[in-house]
Amino acid sequence: MKGNKTLMTVAMVSMALAANAAQIKVETGDVSLIMDGEPGGALNLCYFGEKLANTSEFAYAWHITQPDTQDEYGRQLYPAYGGRFFLNPALKLTHADGVMTTELVYRSHEQKAIDANRTETVVHLQDKIYDARVDLRFVAYNDEDVITQSVIFSHGEKGEVTVENIASSYITLKAHDYYLTHFHGTWAREMQLTEEKLTPGVKVVESKKGVRTAQSDNSAFLLSLDAPASEYSGDVYAGALAWTGNYKMQFEVDEAGLLHIVGGINPFASAISLSAGEELVTPEMVLTYSNNGRSEVTHNLHDWARRYNLAHGDEVRPVVLNSWEGAYFDFDEKVITDMIDDAAAFGVEMFVLDDGWFGNKFPRNGDNAGLGDWQVNKKKLPQGIGYLADYAVSKGMKFGIWIEPEMVNPDSELARRHPEWIVQSGKRDLLPMRNQHLLDLSNPEVQDFVFETFDNVLKMSPNISYVKWDANRHADNVGSTYLAADEQGRFWYDYICGLYNVYERIRAKYPDVLIQLCSSGGGRVDFGALKYHDEFWASDNTNALDRLKIQYSENIFFPAMATAAHVSTSPNHQTGMMLPLKFRFDVAMMGRLGMELQPKQLEGDERTFALNAIELYKELRPVIQLGDLYRIDSPYDEDGYCSDVYVSKDRREAVVFAFSTTYHNRTQSYDIKLHGLDPAKNYLLKEVNTPDGGSWYPGNGKVYSGEFLMKAGLSLPIGGAFTSMVLHLTEQ
Ligand code: DGJ
Repeated sequence: MKGNKTLMTVAMVSMALAANAAQIKVETGDVSLIMDGEPGGALNLCYFGEKLANTSEFAYAWHITQPDTQDEYGRQLYPAYGGRFFLNPALKLTHADGVMTTELVYRSHEQKAIDANRTETVVHLQDKIYDARVDLRFVAYNDEDVITQSVIFSHGEKGEVTVENIASSYITLKAHDYYLTHFHGTWAREMQLTEEKLTPGVKVVESKKGVRTAQSDNSAFLLSLDAPASEYSGDVYAGALAWTGNYKMQFEVDEAGLLHIVGGINPFASAISLSAGEELVTPEMVLTYSNNGRSEVTHNLHDWARRYNLAHGDEVRPVVLNSWEGAYFDFDEKVITDMIDDAAAFGVEMFVLDDGWFGNKFPRNGDNAGLGDWQVNKKKLPQGIGYLADYAVSKGMKFGIWIEPEMVNPDSELARRHPEWIVQSGKRDLLPMRNQHLLDLSNPEVQDFVFETFDNVLKMSPNISYVKWDANRHADNVGSTYLAADEQGRFWYDYICGLYNVYERIRAKYPDVLIQLCSSGGGRVDFGALKYHDEFWASDNTNALDRLKIQYSENIFFPAMATAAHVSTSPNHQTGMMLPLKFRFDVAMMGRLGMELQPKQLEGDERTFALNAIELYKELRPVIQLGDLYRIDSPYDEDGYCSDVYVSKDRREAVVFAFSTTYHNRTQSYDIKLHGLDPAKNYLLKEVNTPDGGSWYPGNGKVYSGEFLMKAGLSLPIGGAFTSMVLHLTEQ
């Protein structure tokens, strides 16, 4: 049970239903989304919130506004531009005869169980006059309290219908105040949490960058009613668009004080014309709700992602050493085999060879050449990738490799062979970014090339079991030599469909390979791409202090097991900041632990510490990767402290991470109360991941009840800058 608070979180209060109206319930274990539709009338949203035992009262509930100020279209579940509708619509069409308005009415719906946990509901809408059809598809995930919504448009008009805007979902909520949490950023500073009170008008969060669309702003959001989102109480909604391309999320507070959340593909420069019978399918909006604050929203999404979204979501991830920051482009066979030797000695389980291994005529010795020419560089690696992969396996490790198959350097054989494959806008200049251009994945030939790149790389050795898929630029001056002149508006949509088509083919052929979603770090952190991947590279910024904030935000939506978090060297290569090795490990251990350094640089005590930390992580990772994350204290607070606790599903084990990110004072301690434990259980507390293996924390080795730890809490002796503690709790 998830609490019994009965605060009304009603989106809208329904007007009385006509006798032939249908009530449509999309329900999970704890959440109800209630619609009503009268054949030939509008489809309305009655309610979205805590599950209702009885929904029959909607048949005679009050209408909240006067019909002449807020007519029947004011509470539509999926409003189109047309009729008396003045807000930002979910759908905008131009019909074959040039008419620009659409008035959608409910026709019918059907509901079926997909399996014991999932129910699919499809609601059929149609224009009042035209043969223009909109199907709303909801999937309700009972145990996870997640509801996904997507939309399928088709028509039977004589001539083409132009779809100018087609959102995935349109949610209307009613409260006194609305607090939006969204995530702004840039390269190496992704996912910076911002919470703001919405004011009348429209707040827009969007991307028009085509690729790496999650880097500047993520499409995932939290919406809290009446107060800023808190962890363990209050009404919090979450949404995340499962789409890797341009998106637009609009939060519109209307003149009646209602909030309308419209989210989906960004309509910017993306009009798509469809002939009769053609379909346009939107990405899914992933929605969840809790009346117990945002921690439960996180649990819902993590459970859902591990079960239905991430590849291999029920398997713990290996500890990785990635070669990038340890070697960059500057390596040969010996450098790599030495790294493999050293990684093996540290207990690393997966060695990943990053950028720089390919290109002969245009060798990839820097970021200015070679992209597109995916043949091993014979000078650097004369015995090929197979040799290195076998070498890693002979040392007891697995082997992974980096690719960036959507891109091409002008200095490459590929750019000379297929200049027409490059994304380009007529005769305008190509604008390189990181010395590279984007390949046009709307073109099926390019899709084949990208698939074959992956396939051929995998064929280099049966011992390649991990691929890091990078993408280091945006799309600009866009256009396609493949698409016809009147189809250029399809580019943004078709690019992503082309990418997903390639991912599908890859996953069909290589279901077992681990694939990292890299994209310069943080550039593609969305459930659309994650569906084909095991994990994402959280940021190119490996500085642990910055990672605290980046990972915190990412882990509100995306599970820790998917968060590639690597310990790098000090001073940090991106920020120059120096941090203790323990602090760096403690931060990285909150996600999928890895190392991003030259292992030879870890000597003496540091080497011993790293070795022990990796061994410890293997013991703790089932709790971190497969358990529940309870946030205790945010790194975004100004107090210079932050902490989280991961609790195993059976509540028998927990791991606490606590950090002091600034100097407090010598005598100050950090008081925290834990969450998620079983109050009736007793837990043995051990401080772990200490430099000498011991602990001078007085609580170390003591047994505490779950009740004590959650109500009275602990006083942790950290107050110095960049000090941290990891506590392992096991049931006695
Ligand atoms: C950007 C990635 O995020 C890095 O980890 C690394 O793979 C480089 N690209 C390589 O060019």
